[in-house]
Amino acid sequence: MDKLVVKGGARLNGRVEISGSKNSALPILAATLLTPETCVIRNVPDLSDIRFMIEIMKRLGAKVTFENGTVTTSAETIISEVPYDLVRKMRASICFLGPIIARCGTATFSEPGGCSIGDRPIDLHLKGLAELGAASHSEGGNVYIPKANLVGKEIFLGGKSGSTVLGTDNVMMAATRAKGLTIIESAACEPEVRDLANFLNKMGAKIVGHGTRRIEIEGVDALHGVEHTVIPDRIEAGTFMVSALITQGDVFLAGADASHLVNVIDRMKSCGAQITSDAKGIQVSATRKLSSIDLVTETYPGFPTDMQAQLCALMSVTPGISAITEKIYPNRFMHLAELRRMGARVELEGATAILHGVDHLSGAPVMASDLRASAALVLAGLIARGTTEVNRVYHIDRGYEHIDQKLRGLGAEIERVR
Ligand code: EPZ
Repeated sequence: MDKLVVKGGARLNGRVEISGSKNSALPILAATLLTPETCVIRNVPDLSDIRFMIEIMKRLGAKVTFENGTVTTSAETIISEVPYDLVRKMRASICFLGPIIARCGTATFSEPGGCSIGDRPIDLHLKGLAELGAASHSEGGNVYIPKANLVGKEIFLGGKSGSTVLGTDNVMMAATRAKGLTIIESAACEPEVRDLANFLNKMGAKIVGHGTRRIEIEGVDALHGVEHTVIPDRIEAGTFMVSALITQGDVFLAGADASHLVNVIDRMKSCGAQITSDAKGIQVSATRKLSSIDLVTETYPGFPTDMQAQLCALMSVTPGISAITEKIYPNRFMHLAELRRMGARVELEGATAILHGVDHLSGAPVMASDLRASAALVLAGLIARGTTEVNRVYHIDRGYEHIDQKLRGLGAEIERVR
């Protein structure tokens, strides 16, 4: 079990390359199953989640190679069952459902379990697919879709927390092969959904409105193989943005797309960050401590839930009292107990973390729980007095490509210990 050992104190300076988006690459890899032809996907980050997705694709029958950030895949024939031993390890494998149904006309899929950020239901996925003609029933932890005859329909996909990212992806992918027009109301607008729609259109799909709450998909008879370059990872960029702010440094996020981070940039500027951007990336610096924040996470274009833990780390050492409310996953606060071990003064009122900024944190052994919580603990370690050991670092390797190397490149004292 690896751990990251961080010695706090360095102000980060310099340039960091932002990798391709994990949350864009995952559904795009699933979408390659929609065609028997070869697809080439570039700028794919080398992450354990990506490698796991590729394992599933191979188990389903695809021939896949992954070298130097490029995935080449061809799924001449695929099977329609995705077993529990694969699904339970990665919730995102749910996005195979749409392509398998569209390609095979049937699917057997294990219900993904929960994870440390809370319950991960798939009721909206199943509702949307049922509306298209892929009715399902659950039994013994499996979802069975015996026969799907896909016909386009107007579908409302909103849930109690608003839109669903992978739910929108699944319905959109299935709808590319339905007869007639599908309209998804209350669709997710995330840049990763837009990137998937652009990929599907290159394959010959007819999708308009992606990036808005209303997406229209005209079904087509077949989709063909294409080449595509994945968008940059906005959450990795946001995480490195916080690494510059928390150490009062000055960092250039090369390849980051500021148009995917409008809300995050606006909120950070309102706290006193200096942020500028151009076609090449985003420059982030802070010459003094920031001011506190009152924040609510929402679906895009709101403030992303995947940046909530990182903001808790930043606001734990920002003077004043900050309130950070989690509207997407109300239980996504496993990082608070670990930040408290480092001296943070924070209490949880329902789904709101109240953070009283302290003068400094102290290094301590801490436990990572989910992908973004572990990033938050590394960020806290960058400014804590002494040494912080972040255990169970496999969580962080799921979503951050070579994070210790990238942080060392900016001047951080961080080592990976086997
Ligand atoms: C995607 O997960 C991301 N994962 C998550 O990132 C991200 O936190 C999440 O979107 C929200 O932005 C990938 O893209 C691979 P949702 P997804 O369906 O699609 C409820 C990370 O750190 N809901 O948009 O699974 C759900 O409980 C990961 O990279 C239903 O009620 O999330 C939640 O409250 C973590 N029924 C809300 O919707 C459903 O059928 C948003 O979930 C589906 C979702």
